[in-house]
Amino acid sequence: MCWLWVTVLLAAVVAQLEAVRDELRFASYYGDHMVLQQAPESAVLWGYGASGSKVVVTVTNGTSNQTKTTYVKNDIWTVTLEPVKAGGPYSLVATQISNSSMTVKLTDVLFGDVWLCGGQSNMAFTVSQVINASEELAQAVKYPHVRIFTAALEKSEVELLDLPRVDLPWTVPTPELLGHGNFTYFSAVCWLFGRDLHQNLGYPVGLVESCWGGTPVEAWSSTRALKKCSLAGTKDGMPLVEQVWENTVLWNAMIHPLLNMTIKGAIWYQGEDNTNYHQDQYNCSFPAMIDDWRMAFHEGSGGQTALDFPFGFVQICTDQKHSVKEEFPELRWHQTADYGFVPNPRMKRTFMAVSLDLPDEESPWGGIHPRYKQDVALRLTLGARAVAYGQSGVSFQGPFPEKCILDNYQLNVTFDKAIFFNKSVKEALFEVCFSEGQESCKPSTNWTSAPVTDWDQNSVLLKVGEYAGSVAALRYAWRDWPCDLKSCPVYSADRVLPAPPFILHRWPQ
Ligand SMILES: *[C@@H]1O[C@H](CO)[C@@H](O)[C@H](O)[C@H]1NC(C)=O
Ligand SMILES: *[C@@H]1O[C@H](CO)[C@@H](O)[C@H](O)[C@H]1NC(C)=O
Ligand SMILES: *[C@@H]1O[C@H](CO)[C@@H](O)[C@H](O)[C@H]1NC(C)=O
Ligand SMILES: *[C@@H]1O[C@H](CO)[C@@H](O)[C@H](O)[C@H]1NC(C)=O
Ligand SMILES: *[C@@H]1O[C@H](CO)[C@@H](O)[C@H](O)[C@H]1NC(C)=O
Ligand SMILES: *[C@@H]1O[C@H](CO)[C@@H](O)[C@H](O)[C@H]1NC(C)=O
Ligand SMILES: *[C@@H]1O[C@H](CO)[C@@H](O)[C@H](O)[C@H]1NC(C)=O
Ligand SMILES: *[C@@H]1O[C@H](CO)[C@@H](O)[C@H](O)[C@H]1NC(C)=O
Ligand SMILES: *[C@@H]1O[C@H](CO)[C@@H](O)[C@H](O)[C@H]1NC(C)=O
Ligand SMILES: *[C@@H]1O[C@H](CO)[C@@H](O)[C@H](O)[C@H]1NC(C)=O
Repeated sequence: MCWLWVTVLLAAVVAQLEAVRDELRFASYYGDHMVLQQAPESAVLWGYGASGSKVVVTVTNGTSNQTKTTYVKNDIWTVTLEPVKAGGPYSLVATQISNSSMTVKLTDVLFGDVWLCGGQSNMAFTVSQVINASEELAQAVKYPHVRIFTAALEKSEVELLDLPRVDLPWTVPTPELLGHGNFTYFSAVCWLFGRDLHQNLGYPVGLVESCWGGTPVEAWSSTRALKKCSLAGTKDGMPLVEQVWENTVLWNAMIHPLLNMTIKGAIWYQGEDNTNYHQDQYNCSFPAMIDDWRMAFHEGSGGQTALDFPFGFVQICTDQKHSVKEEFPELRWHQTADYGFVPNPRMKRTFMAVSLDLPDEESPWGGIHPRYKQDVALRLTLGARAVAYGQSGVSFQGPFPEKCILDNYQLNVTFDKAIFFNKSVKEALFEVCFSEGQESCKPSTNWTSAPVTDWDQNSVLLKVGEYAGSVAALRYAWRDWPCDLKSCPVYSADRVLPAPPFILHRWPQ
């Protein structure tokens, strides 16, 4: 039923495209007020025209200009500009020289860094939904050099060349556009990240939102990526709610069309939908999707988008306060390819905003949609500054255990950096599992809390009792909803970055 409708809709789109094929125009995601990727990369521009005719593209800011010439082949033309350094505004003029010449012009185009924002509902969550929304919206006008664009929600069974529709064409931000209803546009995490980054970098930032609530990673992955994890073609056991999200349908309609644009990097907030769908494979499917996007954007831009472009993501927050289910902690762990932190050898040039300490019981959109997106964005921005921009001295990872030593029925856990330990937190979030044999500690194993008895600048001492010798694993914050707002036990010394959740098996003793 559902697919019949999609097919009919697609046929209509294709028919519409045919009608205007010969007409000179830019592809759907080029427009007035846009940001194009700055030097050292080159921006790629493409569009439609009459096959065989010549197209001349001129980029000018009044004092300086560059011109590129190409020919329309199969109704499509593409040019790669010479690198342009950050700034603007520029005008882009494309002229088709054929029997009758025709011109299209884009104005107020800036050069800067272009970031793609993907994922599910927590990425779609708009600025009008965040805590202190009215203050954030009122400030929109202070950032005319952060430009926004939103792809419309579309699925396709085949890879599309261009976006079938655009929800929000490139625009200068306004309070109305940043707060267009619930889960529409513009994405709060995307906006706050871009805004913070712009403040730090001092040049234009372009934000491309392409996300859809309630979607699994498989829908955003190409068949190529899914095959790496033996997920291509699997539909068995798919819960009813997932049946609408067949593999690759969002990759096909909402990501593949964007490959021809040069981008600086991407951020991603997704995973909730995979807590009960192919959760065990997320440690493969997520890194595989990142690898695949990188390869595809590099290829689609003719080598302009970096093959290892920086990829930031949010480690999922919380869902239900007293839940004893372990899907959320498992998924958080799998988001890091089971390392607990990023970047790591499997996930290079990635950065992660840990968010498990930002729960929101009062959210009108349910516990799974916390409103504290400012903190999420701040943590992402720190990651981008360190990983994407190589700024030195930017701390962007919470403390992670470096070694664990058993000492007189106590376990001394030393972190890789200085910690703040909040002694007022009542919940005992360190837990150990005992095992005499070599069998591993599974989620269902009997875990026992190990209270913190002492701590210092970068370590905590845990009480493990008389069976200390058979401690087989240690885990921390391994719950759906481990802490109250900003009240986990362990943070970086400056109290900005929470220790990420972890599970460690049998350390050298
Ligand atoms: C126009 O761009 C050139 C380089 O692309 C730059 O040197 C010049 O300052 C710009 N002029 C204006 C008015 O922005
Ligand atoms: C481009 O710049 C050259 C000089 O460098 C000038 O002669 C020409 O008129 C300019 N063209 C446009 C379209 O601005
Ligand atoms: C130009 O006009 C000629 C003669 O009418 C026609 O055959 C040709 O297809 C046209 N070329 C284009 C590019 O429109
Ligand atoms: C919301 O605004 C209040 C008052 O300006 C401020 O104290 C608080 O820190 C803000 N909260 C967030 C999450 O930005
Ligand atoms: C957004 O959601 C809130 C909370 O459910 C509701 O009060 C509000 O009317 C919704 N806004 C729109 C535009 O639907
Ligand atoms: C992913 O996690 C599953 C189950 O938690 C585990 O069996 C598997 O070895 C892990 N795979 C990778 C690639 O880390
Ligand atoms: C866009 O990229 C895809 C994938 O690499 C490629 O097949 C296609 O030809 C490119 N389109 C244009 C207009 O460059
Ligand atoms: C420590 O945790 C308590 C609640 O357990 C919280 O009220 C307090 O704000 C936290 N202190 C700091 C400095 O984060
Ligand atoms: C778990 O262990 C505790 C003490 O170590 C014991 O009291 C409890 O019954 C055990 N629970 C299960 C489900 O085995
Ligand atoms: C943990 O061990 C280190 C030495 O490895 C020591 O410096 C530190 O004080 C110990 N931590 C506590 C809380 O006792």
